[in-house]
Amino acid sequence: MTLPPASSDSFFRWLPAAASDNAGSVDLLFIGLLLLSGVLVALLVGLNLVFLIRYRRGSPAPRPPLRLASWKLEATWITATTIVFLGIFAFGAPLYVSEQRPPPGAYEIHVTGRQWMWDIRQPNGRREFDTLHIPLGRPIRLVMESEDVIHSFYVPAFRLKQDLVPGKQVSLWFQADRVGTFHLFCAEYCGTKHSAMTGSVIVQSPADYAAWLEGGSPGTELLSRGRLLFTRHGCSGCHDPNSRIHAPLLQGLYGRRVPLADGSFVTADDRYLRDSILQPQREVAAGYEPVMPGYEGQITAGDLLDIIAYLKSLRAAPPPAPAPQPVLLPTP
Ligand code: CUA
Repeated sequence: MTLPPASSDSFFRWLPAAASDNAGSVDLLFIGLLLLSGVLVALLVGLNLVFLIRYRRGSPAPRPPLRLASWKLEATWITATTIVFLGIFAFGAPLYVSEQRPPPGAYEIHVTGRQWMWDIRQPNGRREFDTLHIPLGRPIRLVMESEDVIHSFYVPAFRLKQDLVPGKQVSLWFQADRVGTFHLFCAEYCGTKHSAMTGSVIVQSPADYAAWLEGGSPGTELLSRGRLLFTRHGCSGCHDPNSRIHAPLLQGLYGRRVPLADGSFVTADDRYLRDSILQPQREVAAGYEPVMPGYEGQITAGDLLDIIAYLKSLRAAPPPAPAPQPVLLPTP
């Protein structure tokens, strides 16, 4: 099913095994830059040596005055370097931009970095630590954040590195094109056990992956945790159907178009749910007072994901819906 770590190959290699479909272009860019730098270093050091020896003190080499107009030299030099650097930019920028733009329907996995572990949530709620299972040949979008300090998610075999800055959600996508187990590192010094913040990415065939995904803790565990947090953070006091507070009902909210107080509309997607919890004053639903406190800094990234998963599971209740029990899991 899985191979030993790709970099455990016993012989020396220039680059780690390439296991994603953008690795080829990244390597080409890297080798191109390396060659260009190598040529420049060789040229400059070579000329230096030649001139040092040829024009050493007391040597008979002729030293006529410079005949070439210096502006011509300058113009040639500036034009040549501009062309080279714009060429590098034209090569590298699309690579960088395309990493940020997942194709529609990319498979979404949440990654949370914290001192000192990688906390990963699969789409069905299965949770894993320091190991990331992904299916082969499918675009994967990683939605990532940090709970404490800056970490950096780094998988050399995928030529993938992304800093996680606390308070900011970032994402990037890739597609693995080789089954196997690959190293995962934290590439940003994040405290005492930074060097131990490692793990592995396990690429499986779609069938193996599906079997693995079904074999784990089911999503219901995550949903009941989400419900518990929803109560613990005081959300249920206002947002449960039997609450006396005039607050928006959340049943069936996910995916709906929500009218806002300023007359505009917004679709209740993950982004909206998340922002409405962290900064509720930004998009106030029409017909409600902006009285909800913001949870920015009050809630960990992992707890937030669990609450959002719970909110997404809430289906629209029929009009005379009975009040759900505080801690019990409502049946979707
Ligand atoms: Cu996390 Cu270094």
